[in-house]
Amino acid sequence: MSGSASKSTITVVDNASGKRLELPMMDGSIGPRVMDIRKLYAETGHFTYDPGFTSTASCESRITYIDGDQGVLLYRGYPIEELAEHSDFMEVCYLLLKGELPNAAQKTRFERDITLHTMIHEQLTRFYQGFRRDAHPMAVCCGVVGALSAFYHDSLNINDPHQRMVASYRLIAKLPTIAAMAYKYSVGQPFMYPKNSLNYAENFLHMTFGVPCEEYKISKTVARALDKLFILHADHEQNASTSTVRLAGSSGANPFACIAAGIATLWGPAHGGANEAVLQMLQEIGSKDRIPEFIRKVKDKSEGVRLMGFGHRVYKNFDPRAKVIRQAAHDVLAELGVHDEPLLEIAMELERIALQDDYFVQRKLYPNVDFYSGIIYRAMGFPTSMFTALFAVARTVGWIAQWNEMIEDPAQKIGRPRQLYTGHAPRPYVPMAKRA
Ligand code: CMC
Repeated sequence: MSGSASKSTITVVDNASGKRLELPMMDGSIGPRVMDIRKLYAETGHFTYDPGFTSTASCESRITYIDGDQGVLLYRGYPIEELAEHSDFMEVCYLLLKGELPNAAQKTRFERDITLHTMIHEQLTRFYQGFRRDAHPMAVCCGVVGALSAFYHDSLNINDPHQRMVASYRLIAKLPTIAAMAYKYSVGQPFMYPKNSLNYAENFLHMTFGVPCEEYKISKTVARALDKLFILHADHEQNASTSTVRLAGSSGANPFACIAAGIATLWGPAHGGANEAVLQMLQEIGSKDRIPEFIRKVKDKSEGVRLMGFGHRVYKNFDPRAKVIRQAAHDVLAELGVHDEPLLEIAMELERIALQDDYFVQRKLYPNVDFYSGIIYRAMGFPTSMFTALFAVARTVGWIAQWNEMIEDPAQKIGRPRQLYTGHAPRPYVPMAKRA
């Protein structure tokens, strides 16, 4: 894999020494050109400084493309809107992992292979007893996914493509089981084994809401909407959790450990935890007439309150996922017969007011994918604490596809950023008796 080296260069001049350095430019297939600074330190002794990586391409990738100004999101070249409308999550998993849409035979085979891995090792079920009942599902998922590396020794060799693919299938297949079990444990109900006659989303609903004493009737509407939500969350380029997975993987760590690291990163409220935070925010606001007061607090900044579900590091126009999900929220609620969801009304009014307010307009803050997802999850019956776990279920395929791509990349090196050191210069040790 290699982005093509462009003929043009950029010249960097060190004004202190007068030294000049020609930096090659690289062209991707679409998107901004990239300055290749790999020789910068060797040639000049200088580092670059970019906290939060706002201007740094950390890798080459062929998986997902985002144009933040135009509000474009492509998986392997296919627009997210088209995939959400015409595809299904298993097909999208295949696409992200293997690069192309499957034909009918490939799809059937893939679905069957994933299905064969949905159960977890029976001994793993005992891990759950070690958690408090009120443990957050993300804490449980993080622990149990990390523990997979202690159970599946035949898929730990990252240099064997077959073992890598087995680990990838296991992760995609087992995440719903692990997340659903986290929910079951929290409510004190028996774990439900996966049912291989069901599709991915249906099976997740069955394991989450089914009980052994009666048949659980799966709503096709809910299953379809959940499948769509999984598609929208499946990958998102080099975001914080994906970069964490790549960084962890760059040391040669096993895939299960890397995905556990991704889950830990996703949990934060600035990332996947935002869907939970949005619902808490809407509940705290409580009614439409309290929105102006809340907006005032957000703009005031002194109270550290943010409008959760708004803003994005990359999307500075709109988040294309939010458009699809906004419509889905209305459709799902209508189909489920929820006509007077007060939180949806508050969300819509909040969105209307924020989109007209200079504070948000000037900073290009628009609703992101998480603004509406929580409302749909809630209508489906998921407790708030499960929202981010649902995100993790969907994102696992993206993480593992990116991890595979990294391992196969000949340019791959252990991730090792440098720093701008601002601490003490060397100084002599001070004996205890002489310290203030
Ligand atoms: N509410 C109020 N002000 C905001 C918000 C917000 N949600 N987001 C950004 N700002 C302001 C921020 O205070 C700053 O203002 P100023 O220029 O006056 O200092 C300006 O906008 C730029 O903010 P930033 O923090 O430098 O932007 P960022 O690109 O580093 O942060 C973000 C992106 C998503 C972390 C941030 O917008 C945020 O915290 N949003 C709320 C959390 C959220 O919804 N996260 C989900 C992201 S989408 C799902 C995912 O991919 O995980």
